[in-house]
Order: sequence, then structure tokens, then C-alpha cells
Amino acid sequence: MWLVILVVLIAGFFVYLHRAESALRAYWTPDAESRLFSERPLPPPLQRNNITEYELPLRTSGRNIVDGKGRRFRLASVNWYGASDELFVAGGLDIQHRDVIAQTIKKLGFNSVRLPYADELVMKNPRILPHLVAANTDLANLPALDVFEAVVTSLTDAGIAVIINNHITSAQWCCGADPCDAGWANDHLGPLCPVKQTEEEWIAHWETVMSRFLDNPLVIGADLRNEVRGLWGTMPWRKWAEAAEKCGNRLLDMKTDWLIVVEGTESANDVSGAAERPVQLKIPNRLVYSAHVYAWSGWGELDGRFSKRSYASFVKTMRHNWGYLLENNVAPVWVGELGAPDEPSIGDAHYWKNMWRYLKAVDADFGYWALNPRKPAGNTRERYSLVKDDWVTPVKDYRLKDMIELTRQ
Ligand SMILES: *[C@@H]1O[C@H](CO)[C@@H](O)[C@H](O)[C@H]1NC(C)=O
Repeated sequence: MWLVILVVLIAGFFVYLHRAESALRAYWTPDAESRLFSERPLPPPLQRNNITEYELPLRTSGRNIVDGKGRRFRLASVNWYGASDELFVAGGLDIQHRDVIAQTIKKLGFNSVRLPYADELVMKNPRILPHLVAANTDLANLPALDVFEAVVTSLTDAGIAVIINNHITSAQWCCGADPCDAGWANDHLGPLCPVKQTEEEWIAHWETVMSRFLDNPLVIGADLRNEVRGLWGTMPWRKWAEAAEKCGNRLLDMKTDWLIVVEGTESANDVSGAAERPVQLKIPNRLVYSAHVYAWSGWGELDGRFSKRSYASFVKTMRHNWGYLLENNVAPVWVGELGAPDEPSIGDAHYWKNMWRYLKAVDADFGYWALNPRKPAGNTRERYSLVKDDWVTPVKDYRLKDMIELTRQ
């Protein structure tokens, strides 16, 4: 008898779970505000968000990034990927000239770009085949690092700030389960990894990349490593903090003006370790922490993924993971990756709402993932994109609405 009741209870629980998950996966109907936003032209970018209005170099002061006059400069960034993927080249150069893409980024209201590269790009520095840069014929057959530099120059010429990001070791979409790409070095795995790298090599690659930007004041910083992680949370913050200090200090030896961006552990979700063990660079007021927050983040925690959290539960985790640094005026935190699809599920939209309610409340610096309408592998559609396949036409929906609102509040 008890056994029957138990089986019925367990079955009932799974039916409930299944129903709850299906409900989260159903499509979200855009609210009235988002629909209205879609129908109107984009507002022109505000000059007060434009980095050329600020006195460089940038520094940090408490929770803010500030200019030479102490005025806050907020990073309203977009990620433009490709140079960290299989083809070693930023996306879209086959479709539009890089200057046109820079104009698109401006039109969308961003003032900065997070530009990822893979270590493999630096090691192999392969020549970029003409068809991959068909709309940039001057770049055909140039080494990948030259193409990378040309993209940066194009952005900064357009008055857009750039933060370079070391994204992954072997050039491919990040972040699979492959332990070879889980951290900044993989030599402890012996012969297992096809693209091997020591900590020293990781730093040397950084020096190679950044040596190209010593004289470009709009290259404002270096985001040292994307989404450091270990199997089941086995990457201690202390270990990463030490490596980040070493690398950050070496870059500051090259140029004292760069901001050094250090992401959290647990795929950049968690910067809580900085409370007990802050990153300390040899030059003060250069350190920016960074967190990544997606709808599926939070899995494994008691309250579950962010796609189904209450606002109170979501905020509690944000505060614990990184919000405390802002709320206690300790250091700037750039939410360097967040994003959602053009046709979100109920769960996606729920995460997005909570996320932007909190980002607006703490007046955050952010970086949207991503601009690209296509992924390099298989040329598949990128549902998180903010432009159509022409790299010019904006996708005006709930995502741009919230980003623009934050930069104008
Ligand atoms: C910033 O302003 C300068 C000067 O007006 C302009 O050339 C540049 O395109 C602007 N940048 C952005 C990102 O709007």
C-alpha cells in the first residue's frame, strides 16, 4: 500500500516537473512596450555615452570606471565574435566592410566592443582566405592577426572603445565540456590536448596581441580569459586570481593605462571569491571584474536556473556572486556576457526581465552576446543576434529596448 502511494507521489512529481519545464519552453508573446519599440525607429545614440566625450585614459574609482575628470564612463558593449572560432576571423567581413559593421554597432547604441580571440590564432596566425573577407578585399590572404588588428582599428576609428578578450585556447565555439579549453593553461593534461599551452604561453600570446595596440587609446582593456571553469566546480578562485595577477601585471608592464578585466570562476558566474581574496594588480585603479549571466545559469543550485527564479531569488544570487562589489562600492563589475534569443521562450523572457530589472537598479556596465547573425561553424543562425544577415538591419525587440533604456536612465 505504502509502496503504491510512494510510486504515485514520485510519478506525480515528475509529471509536475515535466509540465513546469514545458511551460517554460513555450514561446513568449512580446509585451506592449516591446511591440511599440519594434515599430519605432531606433533613437539616435546619446553623445554622453560616447567615449570620445571622455578624457582618456580610463581608471577605476570604487564601483565605477571613470575618466581623467572623474566622470563615470559606462560600458555599453556588444560582443563581436569569430576570431576565437574555427575560421580565425571576426564574423561578417564576407558580407560588409568592417567600417560598415562599426557604423551598425554605433547605430544600435553601443559604445564599446568585446572582441574575442583564441590562443590558436596567435600560435598559427593563418592567412585568411579571400572568401571569408569578401567585402574587405584589402584583407584577403593577410595573416589572422593583421585582420584582427584591422577590425580593431576600424572600430576605434569609428569612436568605439574595444576590450580584447582571450576567449579559448583552440579556435572553436566556447564552451564545450572539453577540459583542454576550461582554463588558461592545459599542460597539466599532458598529451591529451591538440592545442597545448602553458600559463607562460598564455601570457606571451597576450603580449603578442596587445603589442599591436600600444598606441591606440581606444583599446581600453584586456579581458584576461573567458569563463574559467573546472569539472563540477573544481577551479578554485585563488588559483585563478594568482594567474590573473601575473598576466595582468605583465600587460601593465607594457602599458600602465589598460583596464584589466578578470572574470569570475564557474564559467564567469561567480566572483564571490573576490570578497575574501581580491585580485591585486601592481598598479591601483585598473581592475574591473566581470560576470556572465544567462537563462541557464544557476543550474545545480537549490532554486534552479535563472529562467524560472523569482526576482528575490535571482537578486540574492546576483548579490552573492558579484552585485556586492557594486553595492558596497568595492570595484567595477562588467556583465560582459548576457543575452537571449529573438524569439524567447517564457523562461528566456523571465530571465531577461529579472536580469534587466537588477541591471537597471544597480546601473550596471554590460556586454551583450552577441552581434553576429551567424555562427562560424556550419553558418547556422544565431538566435541571439541583434542584426539581420546583412549585418546592417537592426533586430528591434525587447532586448535592444532594455539595453537602450539602461543607457538613457
Ligand atoms: C562618438 O563621437 C564621435 C565624434 O562626434 C563620432 O565620430 C563617433 O562616431 C561617435 N561614436 C559612437 C560610438 O557613437
